[in-house]
Amino acid sequence: LASIEVDVSKIAEGQAIKTSWRKQPVFIRNLTAKEIAEANAVDPASLRDPATLAERTKEGKQNWLITLGVCTHLGCVPLGAGEGEPRGDFGGYFCPCHGSHYDTAARIRKGPAPLNLHVPDYKFASDTVVQIG
Ligand code: FES
Repeated sequence: LASIEVDVSKIAEGQAIKTSWRKQPVFIRNLTAKEIAEANAVDPASLRDPATLAERTKEGKQNWLITLGVCTHLGCVPLGAGEGEPRGDFGGYFCPCHGSHYDTAARIRKGPAPLNLHVPDYKFASDTVVQIG
């Protein structure tokens, strides 16, 4: 089937993992309280691709940021989900191909990418299991 289930119970606050779905990389990140506050401090109207963190996450689970790991410029895999990788000027993800910086809601903030990292269809199958697709 097209959907996958991922156990997120081992992803510590501040960490992210990479998985894949339909042959595309997916980032699953457990945001810290500080990262959530940073995302919520931004006026969405000031953004290139306006969206709030709440719109990009599930109610009551705002710390779980789940996106494709595909830069919306030309499709490179951004850095920031792997251990020790740079997360860019806005603390989210950084695409080294042409320098796109995404924030802690994976919204484009600087560089050539036109859109935020895409949020795939997903749901929580349980408190610790995410079903993507
Ligand atoms: Fe990411 Fe160009 S592909 S900045």
